[in-house]
Order: sequence, then C-alpha cells, then structure tokens
Amino acid sequence: MKITLRLIIALILAVTAVALVFSYFTVQSEKARLTSELEHRAWLVSEGLKESVGPFILKGPSKKFDSIVEKISKGKQIIGVAVYDMTGKTVTVSKELSAALPSNLNILFEEFKSDEGRGAYEKIASKQAYLYAVPTHDDEGARTGTVVIFSDASYIDEYLLDIWRRNFLRILANVIIISIITLFVIRWSIVGPIARMSEWIGNLRSGKFDEAFKMPKEDLFTPISKEISSLAKSLAVAHARAEEEAMLRQHAEAVWTAERLKGHVRAKLGDKKLIVVSNREPFMHIRSGKIIECISPASGLVTALDPILKACGGLWVAHGSGNADRDVVDRHNIIRVPPENPQYDLKRVWLTQEEEEGYYYGFSNEGLWPLCHIAHTRPVFRMNDWARYQEVNLKFARALEDVIGNETYIFIQDYHFALLPRIIRERHPKAKIALFWHIPWPNPEAFGVCPWRREILHGMLGADIIGFHTQFHCNNFLETVDRNLECHTDWEHFSITKKEHTTYVKPFPISVDFTPSPINIEIKSKEELFKEIGVKGSILGIGVDRLDYTKGILERFMAIERFMEKYSEYRGLFTFVQIGAPSREHIKSYHEFAGKVKAEEDRINWKFQSGDWRPIVFLHRHFSHAEIEPYYRHADLCMVTSLHDGMNLVAKEFIVSREDEQGVLILSTFTGASRELRDALLINPYDIEQMAGMIRAAIEMEPEEQRLRMKRMREVVREKNIYKWASDIITEITQIHHE
Ligand code: G6P
Repeated sequence: MKITLRLIIALILAVTAVALVFSYFTVQSEKARLTSELEHRAWLVSEGLKESVGPFILKGPSKKFDSIVEKISKGKQIIGVAVYDMTGKTVTVSKELSAALPSNLNILFEEFKSDEGRGAYEKIASKQAYLYAVPTHDDEGARTGTVVIFSDASYIDEYLLDIWRRNFLRILANVIIISIITLFVIRWSIVGPIARMSEWIGNLRSGKFDEAFKMPKEDLFTPISKEISSLAKSLAVAHARAEEEAMLRQHAEAVWTAERLKGHVRAKLGDKKLIVVSNREPFMHIRSGKIIECISPASGLVTALDPILKACGGLWVAHGSGNADRDVVDRHNIIRVPPENPQYDLKRVWLTQEEEEGYYYGFSNEGLWPLCHIAHTRPVFRMNDWARYQEVNLKFARALEDVIGNETYIFIQDYHFALLPRIIRERHPKAKIALFWHIPWPNPEAFGVCPWRREILHGMLGADIIGFHTQFHCNNFLETVDRNLECHTDWEHFSITKKEHTTYVKPFPISVDFTPSPINIEIKSKEELFKEIGVKGSILGIGVDRLDYTKGILERFMAIERFMEKYSEYRGLFTFVQIGAPSREHIKSYHEFAGKVKAEEDRINWKFQSGDWRPIVFLHRHFSHAEIEPYYRHADLCMVTSLHDGMNLVAKEFIVSREDEQGVLILSTFTGASRELRDALLINPYDIEQMAGMIRAAIEMEPEEQRLRMKRMREVVREKNIYKWASDIITEITQIHHE
C-alpha cells in the first residue's frame, strides 16, 4: 500500500506542477492580451473625442457639448467621460460618472506636464477602471484642456480568475483519474501477480508441487520469472529426493532410486565401463527446414535404458538413423546426451540404405518380430535380409572394437543383435556380455519355422547372461535350445553350457522410472484436452502405442464399437483417444495396418458420432513424453490390449502418472506386465464382448475401488522400478567370472 500511495502522490505532484505552470503562463498571456485590447480601445475613443471637443472647452458648457460627451460614454465597457479646462476644472462629465468622479486625479496632472496621452488604473466606485487622458486643442492648435476616458477594467480580473478556477477543476479531475488508474494498474499487473506468485512459492515450500505456475506475462517479471522457475525446479527435485529418501528408510532400503543405482554401479563396476548396444538410439536429430530438432523415439527399450545411462554414465552404441545425426557428432561419431543436460556418450553407427533395408526392416522386423510375437502375422525370411543381418551384426562388433577392453561390460539389447554376442566372444573370449531380449520368446514349434534358428541360438549363446521379461519366456528359450542345439541345458540353474561356455537365462521384468516428475511442466486440464481434440465429451479413455499390429489396436476399436452399441447411454460422453506413433512404415504390413486403423476410426465414428462428439480420436503422430503426460493424468481409463507383448511399459507409465490414485488400467493378459499388475482389469483382446464389458466396468468403478487398485499397482511399479531392473542385471553381469 505504501508504495502505491507514494506512486500516486508522485504522479499527482508532477501532473499538478505541470498544470500550474501552464495555467500561470496562460493567465499571464491572457492578461497581457486583454489589457492591451482595453488600452487600445480607450486610445481610439479618446483620439476621436479630442478633435470634436477641443474647440468647445473655451466656449464653456453647452447642450451640444453635453450630448457629444453623453454619446461617447455609452460605448462598450466605458464607464464615462470627463472634460477639464486648462485650470483643471471640470467642464462637463457624463451622467453616470458624475457621482463617482474622484476630485483629484493624478493622471490629469501628469498629462498636463507631458502634453501627451497618458493611461493609468484606478479604483472608481470600488471597481477597477482604466483612465486615459488626452490633451485637447482649438482650431489654431492652442491647448484648451483635457479629456479623460474612464473604461471598465474589472472584467479582466474576473476572466483571469475564471481561468484559474477552470484549471483547478481540471487538475482535480486529473488527480482523481490518475489515482484510480494507478490503483487498478498496480492491483492487476503487480499486486495480483505477486500475491499469486508468493502463494505458489508458499505452497511449493510446504511441498505442494501439483500445480503448474503460470508466470505473469508482464516484461517486469521476465528476469525473476526465469529465476523462480529454476529455483522451483531445484526445490521440487530436492523435495522429491527427500521424500524418496524418507520412503527408502521406511521401506528398509527396498526401493531403488537413480542415486542408489549410481552408488551400486560404482561399487560393482569400479572403474570398468558399461557399454549398451541397441539398434534404436535414445536421441535422434531430425532436420526440418534449417532447424535441427532432437527427439526421443517411441520405444520401450529407450524409455527403460535412458534413465540407467543417465544414472551411471557410460556409452550407448546405436544406429544413427536421424537425417541430421551426422551433423552433430564429433570425429569419433560420438555426441554427449541428453542435449539439455549431457550425462552420457552416444556413439552412432552408420548403415547404408541396403543394410537398413535387409537387417532392420527385413530380417529383424519382417522375420524375427512376427516370429517371436504370436499375433498371426506370418514371418518372412529372405536370404538377402539374412545376409545383411549378419553384416550389420559384424559392423557393430567392429564399431565396438575401439571401446571394448577386458574391463568392460557389454549390455546388448534385443532381437536386432542375436549374432553379436558370439562375434564379440570369438574376438574377446574374456568379455563380459549380457543380452536382453525385449520381446517375447515363442514356444519351440513356433520358433522352429526360422531357417536360421540354429545360427541365431548359437549367436545368442555367446552371451554370459540372457534376460527375458518373464520366466515363461525363459522356459520357452531353454526348450528351444534343447530342441535345436547340441548342448547341456541345466533346468535347475537355468543355464546352457556349450563347448565349455555357460550362459545363464534369467527373467528380469523391465520397468520405468518411478521418480515423480518435478512438476514445473504445465499440465493441461481435461477440458483443455477435449477442446484441443475438438470433441465435446466428459469421460476420457486413452491408448498410447507405436502403430504396430501386435498392439491389438483394431481389437480395441472393435471393443469400443461394441461398448457403444451395448451401453448407448455413454454416447456423447465417452471418447477414446488413440495416440499412434508412426513406426516401421516402409514395411508393407505396417503401412497397411496404419491405413486399417484410420479406416476403422472413420467407420466407427461415422456410426455413432453426433454434433461435436465422436467416440474415437486417432492421433497419428509422434508425441513427446511431456505431451502424453496430461492424457495419462486425466484419463478415466487406459487400454493396453496387445495380442502379444514382452512387457509393455505404457501400462506402467500410466500408473506412474496417476499420483491421484485414480483411473483404471485395462490390460491384456498377453503382456508381460499382466504378471505383475494384477489389479488391472485383465482382458483377452480377442474377446470383444469381454473388453466392451470391462470398459463399462472401468467407467463405473467407484473412486474408492479405483484408489485401492491403483495404490497397489503403484506400489508394485515403485518397488520394481527401472533402477531395480538395472541393478539386478548389473549385479548378475558383475558376477561373471571367466577362468
Ligand atoms: C520394441 C522393441 C525395441 C524397439 C521398439 C521400437 O519395444 O523391443 O527394440 O526399439 O519396439 O521399435 P523401432 O523399430 O522403432 O525401434
């Protein structure tokens, strides 16, 4: 308040001072103008009169003389006229003046002395008057007397007073307007935002991070807004860590965190290095026009491994597939990532178009992918693709040559590199190698259709440890090896020994980072989300997938169609948003699949849509984590309906986002995640009726039951988080000993 008052007083003083100075000069110039007008008029009248009355003075009073004087005295602003003879005696006086005529007029005597016209201001009958005296002469030019014109000058003062009065009122009006405007401006632009800011900081201090703060737009706040944002971020991180630590103590060190993993890795690895190898890179540089953008691709593998590399540093070797990837690496093809806060090295391996075609699109994704996923899509095996697959595995082995030493641990990812463990083993017999297979492993019969099944198994067994998401996949693998290779399979220890090298096969259920995001990111509201997708609805369902035929997206849409048919009361209320990241689109089956999803969306919407509402919104583009987050947070239900899936991290990401312990997860029993998340509504994606019923059950589930289920699932994901997965694998890797 004090500052407001000070500001108002300062403004008023400044405005008043300026107004007074201007008024003063206006009054002065008006005064000069009016007096000069008055004096000029008096002079004009007297000049005319002196000619006509000059000769009459000597003759003494006469009627004619009186009538001339009387006529002149009726002029504008003239009080009267007096005529004197040479002795100073009054010859004649106009009637109205005669009573008020002063007996002694200084001006008269001055005029006598100078023989020229003279003017002066006098009070006549308590009124300000201007007196102008001129000498008169006879026809021969001899002096005869004096004529005095009495003009009214009082109107000048009145007029000037009026100017002052009007200016004073103007100043008063200015003062009132300035005060009101200043009060409003200060209230809206300064006091209001500061009050909101301090309330928000107060909340932050007491640990309420749920609300994203909107900084005032005014320029005034730009410098502090940046500072406050980063301060808030640090505070939120510190708070999250403290909470995590406290929780950790409560759970007797049961929960794994980034910090704890770091310590664990340091203790286990010492100064040895961890190298991760995968096909997909964690960060891709994409050129759009002149700008190079950095995106994180949609991949469960990336989601899981990025936090580990961030926690323990090291090196990630991957295919550089972004069209601007080459422009940003150093001469060793390395770049530090993540771009905003570099914490580990990414080494890019370049592939020719032919290699990518055969190794990635061909053998990996048209051969091994459908081979391992039981999703009724026939695998395609081409001799050429197999040749490229072998070449690229070799190429990666070569890229690793300058970074592998005896003291490195190599952690290979997925079905793109089934041959890599063996190639490395042959070159470095003492290398410590782990391979994690992120997709399911089928039964021996299904795997048996692959023409190069033995080479693949032999290649994989070059690793010391092979990990799958579930025990079921481990069992399938052991059986497959048993049926296809000459080796010793130990079912008790889950190991395979071939030519004196032993490989251990173990389940490591992968997960996500559970650390609550230090929420400074602006989270859109549910209403904003509906507005953004252009739908009027109130119940929100969400699905987030790469556009892949294994994800059961068409079955999901059919279930939504059935739900709308059976439970028509939800038409106009429930909308399902399907986020579908484009994936492997050069492959015919993927290309066609994207078309089918779009066509199904159109067909079902056409059937039920009305006004501004439609049941399905299919968003076919890449979404960043930050963009997906508000959908996860506001969804009433999330559907994961994979026909077959190694783990499925979308299910876990959804759970991590639900700090409010609300929302229902509908989950396929054919995902690895369904083994852990028993509180989801478990479904068979081939059973459309069951899925439709589960959508209804999810929507109608009481908040209390939602809370109970979500709480238990959150507990599972929190404990079995990505850091636990990493620590389990690292513990295993570091226990490897070669004689
Ligand atoms: C699955 C695989 C990953 C792969 C991801 C995305 O999760 O297990 O290895 O990175 O799909 O597929 P993409 O072909 O785009 O890398």
